[in-house]
Amino acid sequence: MSTQGDQTMNLLNEAARRYPEAISFLAGRPPQAHVSARHTGAWLAHFIERTAKSPDDEAIRWTDAGQYSDTSGTVRETAAEYLRRSGLPMATAHACAVTNGAQEAFAICLAGLVGRDGVAFTSDPCYIGFSGAARVLGIALECAPDDGSFIDRLHERLVAGGPPVACVYVIPDFSNPGAQVMSLADRERLLALASTYEFTIIEDAAYRYYRFSGTALPTIKSLDRDGHVVYVESFAKTVLPGLRVAVMFADRQDAQAVTLADRFSWIKSYLSVATSPITQGMLAGLLMQQDYRLEHWVAPRVDEVRRNCEHMCEALERELAPLRASGIAWRKPEGGFFLTVDLPFVFDTEGFLDCARDDGVLAMPMQLFSTMGRGCNQMRLAFSNVSPASIDAGVARLSRFIARRCEATRPEMRASPSPG
Ligand SMILES: Cc1ncc(COP(=O)(O)O)c(C=O)c1O
Repeated sequence: MSTQGDQTMNLLNEAARRYPEAISFLAGRPPQAHVSARHTGAWLAHFIERTAKSPDDEAIRWTDAGQYSDTSGTVRETAAEYLRRSGLPMATAHACAVTNGAQEAFAICLAGLVGRDGVAFTSDPCYIGFSGAARVLGIALECAPDDGSFIDRLHERLVAGGPPVACVYVIPDFSNPGAQVMSLADRERLLALASTYEFTIIEDAAYRYYRFSGTALPTIKSLDRDGHVVYVESFAKTVLPGLRVAVMFADRQDAQAVTLADRFSWIKSYLSVATSPITQGMLAGLLMQQDYRLEHWVAPRVDEVRRNCEHMCEALERELAPLRASGIAWRKPEGGFFLTVDLPFVFDTEGFLDCARDDGVLAMPMQLFSTMGRGCNQMRLAFSNVSPASIDAGVARLSRFIARRCEATRPEMRASPSPG
């Protein structure tokens, strides 16, 4: 069921292979200096030693770590303790499931929440991991623009009726791809709509810790009083992407007091059987070493990504300021891994390939994240895992490409700027 979007993603991967010397602003990866797996064995040992009641029990636990294991997770209690200490005091082990990354949690939520006639709803441009999961599962996805009007449009859609909106997926803090932050008022309005219209909010907190300035806003889950939010926190950006571990906190209970997390376990059992108890134990050991809090652990990662962001904004100012009059614009994000550049011309896969071949730099066409034909004159630049020297060189190369395109694009042929 390959679609044009999938083919385009293949093309991007192919271009990255074809131009290995090109400087890449494509992938939202955590900084290279912080993703060594060297200590993961020690984290696992720490978890087992700390939880074992005796030397015999320790031996059993090492064996258990290599065996098939509980579908919903072997470290649910540790994950719940972590959530309790990070702003979700109501978290319990039975309301948590440990998944194979956030990606699996999205698939579980979509499969468990959206019935045959229902739809999932999200903002556009959208994180490709969510829209792609919906497509693979054959679930209809409706979108509203990722701008200040998202909640209004959702409200209009709910009032207008149509196929039931079963779930709404949001990334309230530093979204991918748009780096947007949802205001507190919109978080509260979304919750109120969920209560009135009975849908589930899937809150993706992947970038929550990566705030560069200002005060953190409460997660939507922390404001949820009646179980309308499924909270998904990936440990890919905070610990290691290679662990493939996330926690899904779904505490709504049915009449028999069974949580949504437990009810969904049958879906996970057919998707992946279980999350590896080895990597779960690694994560749990690290959380225990950190006293179940990640702020201190994440701080050097956030510092590095913040420095990269500053560096990229300075480089853009240096290189692109003279082109502002042509309609080039960018916004410094409050956090996250990405920033958006508005362009006075269409930037599509053909532009992407030209830029890679002629200028040796890879920048993501924003339109690849859109199901509504939006973002056609925008590019997304990831700064999280690029050295300052590569940022300087890459932005200089990019500015040559942009200047040429501006030159070649007569005003009457220019794309009208998209709102988001
Ligand atoms: C918005 C968003 N959610 C979640 C993730 C991480 O997902 P996973 O835990 O599957 O690696 C990413 C990674 O790129 C992301 O951008």
